Amino acid sequence: MLGNMPGYARDPLGFLTRCSREYGDVVTLRFPGTLAYLITHPDHVEQILVKNNRNFIKDKYTREELSILGNGLLINEGDFWRRQRRLAQPAFHRRRVEAYGETMVAFTERLLADWRDDEVRDVHREMMRLTLEIVAKTLLDADIAREAEGVGEALGRIMDYFSDQGSGSFLRMLPESVPTPANLRYRRAVRRLDGIIYSIIEERRRSGKDTGDLLSMLLHAEDEEGNRMDPRQLRDEVMTVVLAGHETTAIALSWTFYLLGKHPEIEAKLTSELEEVLAGRSPTVEDLPRLRYADAIIKESMRLYPPAWAIGREAVGECEIGGYHVPTRTQMFISQYVTHRDPRFFDEPEVFDPSRWHDGRTQNLPDYAYFPFGGGPRLCIGSNFAKMEAALLLATVAREFHLESASGEPPVPQPSITLRPRGGIGMKLKKR
Ligand code: HEM
Repeated sequence: MLGNMPGYARDPLGFLTRCSREYGDVVTLRFPGTLAYLITHPDHVEQILVKNNRNFIKDKYTREELSILGNGLLINEGDFWRRQRRLAQPAFHRRRVEAYGETMVAFTERLLADWRDDEVRDVHREMMRLTLEIVAKTLLDADIAREAEGVGEALGRIMDYFSDQGSGSFLRMLPESVPTPANLRYRRAVRRLDGIIYSIIEERRRSGKDTGDLLSMLLHAEDEEGNRMDPRQLRDEVMTVVLAGHETTAIALSWTFYLLGKHPEIEAKLTSELEEVLAGRSPTVEDLPRLRYADAIIKESMRLYPPAWAIGREAVGECEIGGYHVPTRTQMFISQYVTHRDPRFFDEPEVFDPSRWHDGRTQNLPDYAYFPFGGGPRLCIGSNFAKMEAALLLATVAREFHLESASGEPPVPQPSITLRPRGGIGMKLKKR
């Protein structure tokens, strides 16, 4: 009755990896009332995300798990999605994003001023707080330092809720509207986030200021009939950029610091690059083209631990993939985690080796063998923002601190909506 659910729920990453390695590029999975295909080959990924993207919408699990985002950009579809994407796009243009660099570095230095030599901190928690403050400041011109703790706690509850959902327990399979303790906790967490988002919007509306940032663009946008966005849609868009815009980058950095702590020889190469390029000063956007090794480190960290570890789609019409018939309403499951570790595309796929991005080994990689930001029309709108932020934050922190694991146990990835380290990553801070 439960089909593949128990195997999946026990260990989603291991289960999907085994399925793909044992059964090939297209694997049928059965979940209660649902037919799903696991798709691993880059050509098939490209077919779904790019070439035949019009035949697919977001899958039903994404729609359900991200219901907190309402009808925001991430799960919106069709003409309305296209309109909203066009509206938000200017805030993410390369030029515009480059102007955020200074804030990113300044906020990081403000955080580092509180870090003490030999202190142990949960680096995931620190990065979540930092990236939240950055996204709020740059895109919404809001100072969210006071609320950061509350947002972090509410988000933690939401992630736990979804990573426990496949656990097969009867209570967890009841719909969200049934007042089980877990559902009540979830709803409380959503209300808390809503309160914060609505107050940011309200404050700006009251001030009447047009600061030219994303929030102003959304507040002042008008459709052909001159109508402004209704308050619910505005809330959905702001909630989307706040959540999508900080959680993933924080995860990328957390795994990066963990990996650097485990590989002192790679960290040493990074610090010598930082010394050479920065010569003791803070990094700026102009330095980024020369911080090539830092860039490779982040790329490699997102290969092993892709913050968005899976992308789902639902077929709206039948089609064929890899010689297999895909019936209408099939849930297509694409996993960066599985494809990024496929030995056909990456030699020694489990090894953290940033040099592979510079020494020619990845030169002939198929386009969708590595796709941490997705692809096609639904490509992450914040990919330039995220790449720049990750590089600047890594350089700013690594210049001042060496981080080493405070526990003998490696952190365990928690495949919920994103790939968080379960329980965080305790690291000892060593001032350079
Ligand atoms: C390392 C950091 C990030 C990763 C790995 C990441 C990953 C992704 C992926 C894979 C998608 C596509 C999902 C799909 O096709 O179903 C996506 C979409 C999206 N991301 Fe990101 N993201 C990151 C950072 C950001 C940032 C910084 C922002 C905003 C400030 C952002 C905002 C969005 C939005 C709004 C969408 C939906 C776009 C649309 O459908 O039109 N992301 N992201």
